[in-house]
Amino acid sequence: MTDEKHREYHGPAATITVGNVETTGQPCEEFCSEPCGMVIFGASGDLAKRKLIPSLYRLSKNGLVSKNFFVLGTSRAKMDDESFRSAMEKAVREDGGFDAAAWAEFSKRIFYTTADDLADGASYDRLKAILEGKNMEFGTLGNRMFYLATPPSAYAEIADKLGMAGMSDESNGWSRLVIEKPFGRDLKSALELNETLYKNFKEEQIYRIDHYLGKDTVQNILMLRFANTIFEPIWNRRYIDHVQITVAESIGIEKRAGYYEEAGILRDMFQNHILQILALVAMEPPAVYESELVRDERVKVLRALRPLSMDTMRGSLVVGQYTAGEVDGKPAVGYRDEEGVPKDSVTPTFAAMKVFIDNWRWQDVPFYIRSGKRFPKKHSEILIQFKPLPHRMFKDTVYGEIGPNALILMIQPDERVQLKFHTKNPGSRVNLRDVIMDFSYKQGYAGLLLDAYERVILDCMLGDKMLFVREDGMRLCWSFLTEALELIGEQGPSSPELLFYGAGSPGPIESDFLIQLDGRLWRNNGGI
Ligand code: BG6
Repeated sequence: MTDEKHREYHGPAATITVGNVETTGQPCEEFCSEPCGMVIFGASGDLAKRKLIPSLYRLSKNGLVSKNFFVLGTSRAKMDDESFRSAMEKAVREDGGFDAAAWAEFSKRIFYTTADDLADGASYDRLKAILEGKNMEFGTLGNRMFYLATPPSAYAEIADKLGMAGMSDESNGWSRLVIEKPFGRDLKSALELNETLYKNFKEEQIYRIDHYLGKDTVQNILMLRFANTIFEPIWNRRYIDHVQITVAESIGIEKRAGYYEEAGILRDMFQNHILQILALVAMEPPAVYESELVRDERVKVLRALRPLSMDTMRGSLVVGQYTAGEVDGKPAVGYRDEEGVPKDSVTPTFAAMKVFIDNWRWQDVPFYIRSGKRFPKKHSEILIQFKPLPHRMFKDTVYGEIGPNALILMIQPDERVQLKFHTKNPGSRVNLRDVIMDFSYKQGYAGLLLDAYERVILDCMLGDKMLFVREDGMRLCWSFLTEALELIGEQGPSSPELLFYGAGSPGPIESDFLIQLDGRLWRNNGGI
């Protein structure tokens, strides 16, 4: 990016939201990433193509990465700089918003080296030599970030070898290790992985990505709660009847059978994204909006989750798998007929759970959480349903039930906040109507928007860990889920039964019973 272009993006009129703060007219140094080199392991894979390179390109196009920055891709695929660049150009074009000048500027910073064998120390010595050369060329002050976009089974090996080659050492510039989920497959393997990482990297150097925390609307949960005075006094068991968190997807498992068969919905969506959202909804306000303090509060919620026991599991957990059906007017095959999935697979693609948080604020308030593939449409949202009226003074004048108030935080793709309440119907008769006060998140904002991956990559370059998962948080999520995972995996007599639902439906009917038995309904399935 030319100096001129750079100034254009950061001129006094620019409004930029970075590091969770929206600021107008600050000098660019405050927002641009620190100088650094980013090494992507698994650079020929899907994540690099779909998310990492397009996000880096947009950050660069918008002047948010330092001018002292480069990317070095590595994987087993035999490519040189040029062929890697053209594969990435194709990916960026497919992603949309391609700008030839911005690409020309960015692509000068992209390099590639083949690593035949990730277990071979010599590959890392070569990598180190290339990295040192590029560090000099781009003036990165020795700062480096290693992004592991490989299968999780390779994490320990790579971290180990990076350490052995001296690349985790921070005596000359910082060194950060970015890892994608899943961090292990259960509590035991997650702890083992941590131990291996800790041999060479300190916790401060490890960035565990949960891209949901990078979504603006997820961050907005804290803004809404703690930058307003009107919600917090009623944000507790006295006024809230229950909370629903739904993360629904219309897509199936795409081409990821290998990964998904190992993971299933609980590891893929609950262990990370959904429990992190729950923590934001339920946490106490920290004294200061600062990374460690926010992470402390999230962790305290996870620590207070009431453990699922063998006795309660049947009444509080429903798991399902999609069969053939129709989504968006198109036929969709069943999970067992997806390419690479065994015909007798018992991997769940849907789960609904009733969860309690044992603390003063939330005692006995159920949190109903659910997620699934092949729902009728993609939508993620949080419903805060308030308690029913304590007394019906309108009983002789208004017919029918007066439903409860609700606050709905719509996370994606339609990003809104809605408050549902009742007003008088105009006219001479006394009757009520339900109305919705509706705020569209993008309304009145014309500034730059960062997507979740842009945000987390940038925060990693800035060393801001608020949106990353700390070791204790990760451990607590696993301990909460491990027993359920074991039982589901065994499919023994005491396991929650695997139920089936047609693609294009909102999960097995039994997940409706889970909430109906408590006298409630899912929103969008007939509820509020
Ligand atoms: C990923 C899961 O973490 O999140 C995928 O592995 C899922 O299975 C994806 O599809 C959903 O993310 P988003 O941002 O599209 O809601």
